[in-house]
Amino acid sequence: MHSVSSILKEDSLLPYLRVEGKSCLSGHVNISGAKNSALVLMAASLLCKETLVLNNIPKLTDIDVMTNILKSLGANIKRNKNKLQINASGLNGNQKELPYELVHALRASLVCIGPLLTRFEEVKIPLPGGCRIGARPIDEHINGLQALGVNVRIKDENIIAKITNPLRKLIGTKINFKCKSVGATETILMAATLAHGTTIIENAAEEPEIQDLANMLNKMGANIKGAGSSQINIEGVNRLHGCIHRVIPDRIEAGTFLIASAITRSPLTLSPVIPHHLESVISKLEEAGCLIEQSNEQVKIIPPQTINSVDITTMPYPGFPTDLQAPYMALMATARGTSKIKETIFEKRMQHVGELQRMGSKIQLQGNTAFVSGVKSLKATSLTGGDLRSSAAMVLASLSAQGISIVEGLSHLDRGYENFEDKLSSLGVNISRSMIKSPNRMKKNTKILEQPNIVSSDAEVA
Ligand code: EPZ
Repeated sequence: MHSVSSILKEDSLLPYLRVEGKSCLSGHVNISGAKNSALVLMAASLLCKETLVLNNIPKLTDIDVMTNILKSLGANIKRNKNKLQINASGLNGNQKELPYELVHALRASLVCIGPLLTRFEEVKIPLPGGCRIGARPIDEHINGLQALGVNVRIKDENIIAKITNPLRKLIGTKINFKCKSVGATETILMAATLAHGTTIIENAAEEPEIQDLANMLNKMGANIKGAGSSQINIEGVNRLHGCIHRVIPDRIEAGTFLIASAITRSPLTLSPVIPHHLESVISKLEEAGCLIEQSNEQVKIIPPQTINSVDITTMPYPGFPTDLQAPYMALMATARGTSKIKETIFEKRMQHVGELQRMGSKIQLQGNTAFVSGVKSLKATSLTGGDLRSSAAMVLASLSAQGISIVEGLSHLDRGYENFEDKLSSLGVNISRSMIKSPNRMKKNTKILEQPNIVSSDAEVA
């Protein structure tokens, strides 16, 4: 057992945020380009030998990793602020392999396999494996590629995909996904654009990021109909060309800031946003008592002093997004009454419960369902985000807590939120980033505490 001082000695310096609680926000926050769109649009550059220009690319570590992956494949990439120019004409040879350390750093790199198979007869990608929020299986990706005429096998922790049919091309077909998978839909959608014949995807994921991808692919010369619905039709074409495309605003970042407004009980204006992409979140926040005004590219939220507890169940789009479940739970921890929060997409996406309990929240976890009874005030403390969205939830909870909190786990936060603390600071929050020996290593434990049955009416009202 290490002594505390020896742990501190061993610690490297860690970045952390110092957050002053009982914050009030005011003004307007600029929403960045969508991470989960930008990543797949970057992968789509592999589908052609001309330059793809992407505007509104957010400055995130995930984008840096995808940039390095494309460079490792031989693509030429130039970045100027939020603009990326990618030219993948330089890829050569008849087979391609993605580097393990980069794939391991970014699961989303799996979607490169589809575009690469339109250029190379054999592609080798390390198995991305699971992550902190779940096993993240890839059977839908593999089944879809096999349906397109690709021989896919797993050998020594690698996916080896080989086109063996006499045409030496992907062959269009009908694919019916067992479950709605964003990544698998994107993989097959991109591969099918240059397949021989027609591909129909049934039970496709309907997320806005898939629509954004299809819109760009059609600008590149693809022939796609139905993206954003559960059935997508793709007529294979011979070639795609470059284009200029602007990434859609990040609906998850926008939802995070809507919740930041609600948890601090202070009004906020956000733009640019596409209100339609936020419908499920907006309707839950309105049920919780918030007044929300929408115009074409802007949303204004005016929260009440007392937030009502409102149940959610995470679902594929257009349902309530799993990526906002953790931030939303932080809000419900300060609401009046008890809410039921059910996570149906990922099996291990409740790591924030233990940290919220350490702040004094009353949460009872039964499998992937949390019963949250609001408390008058959360207690500031030292917190660690276990994944991207739970890190954001820790910051939001700290905005509301009494006192000054320390939030670690910024390597997760920086994957998905561009200039997060700068944006909060410009809204009036006293927040700063420092480097120090990890203060949280002093923390005893973050396991989720078994709590007596709290689903009762006598919980303190917030
Ligand atoms: C995308 O991940 C997003 N990531 C995730 O955002 C998001 O949470 C998720 O979609 C759901 O909306 C990117 O776009 C880069 P899935 P993805 O395939 O594509 C099961 C964030 O915080 N499944 O839609 O990996 C899977 O287990 C990240 O920004 C299979 O069973 O998610 C899960 O239960 C986290 N077989 C469900 O589908 C498969 O082959 C949804 O996963 C693939 C998925």
